[in-house]
Amino acid sequence: MSDRYQVAKDIAIEAGALALEYQRGLSSGELMIEAKGVQDFVTEADQRTEKLIRSRLQAAFPEDGFFGEESDSDLKPEQGFWVVDPIDGTSNFMRYVDQWGISIAYVAEGQIQLGVIYDPVRQQLFHSQRGEGAYCNEQRCELNGALPADPTLILGYSRRAELNVYLNVLEYLHEAGVEHRRFGSAALGLAYVITGQTDGYYEADLNPWDCMAGLLLIEEAGGVVVSGRSMITDLKNCPVAAGIAGLQPQLNNLVKLAGG
Ligand code: IPD
Ligand code: CA
Ligand code: CA
Repeated sequence: MSDRYQVAKDIAIEAGALALEYQRGLSSGELMIEAKGVQDFVTEADQRTEKLIRSRLQAAFPEDGFFGEESDSDLKPEQGFWVVDPIDGTSNFMRYVDQWGISIAYVAEGQIQLGVIYDPVRQQLFHSQRGEGAYCNEQRCELNGALPADPTLILGYSRRAELNVYLNVLEYLHEAGVEHRRFGSAALGLAYVITGQTDGYYEADLNPWDCMAGLLLIEEAGGVVVSGRSMITDLKNCPVAAGIAGLQPQLNNLVKLAGG
């Protein structure tokens, strides 16, 4: 096991504990006063969690680059780099809905080398290193790929994407007989593919930090990434569709609806 893999797992757990502490502060009211408002407080939680992750990574691997949601990126050509979302599912986090998590990926040589997603509420660590399989805590997750009789997809939506595309997606899924859910954390939605809690994840416009770790998890569990790979090299938003092999035709159609 590489050093980076173990360190990323340790940091995700530490970052999850810090974010939970912030949430408790919000409940006692202390941090709300300090931060002058719930929205500011949540922003502070996001920023402080990213700061922790970044400083730990920097200390362990000073030669690595960094690309995170809440701070300036530090990237050099030919250099491996970390892609970090300190809290994915912030709107859930601020309302105590238990669907949010920490997402950390490492990219080098044009490939996602490792991905870690941590759900601090359930203490579930989803993790994967390229070529070594995908795990939820100690449990290896392997997808057999066969489409079940009642396929289910987790959807994401943000105002970055066109509402029309989302409405067309709902109509298509209805006609294709695919049930859908929307939980508000792309990272956890992708992770739930490897545990069989859903058959796929689709969102018309995602940021690299939302999904880089999740895409490797799905690939390493034996699933398919139909859209999302382009951002590994260009670091730009794009439609993301990934899931079990049996859902590939439907995922392809969903990407077409987003103009992909
Ligand atoms: C958001 C969540 C949400 C997804 C959005 C993301 P954030 O990330 O993953 O589920 O639909 O597209 O931006 O803002 O909570 O880090
Ligand atoms: Ca996010
Ligand atoms: Ca975030």
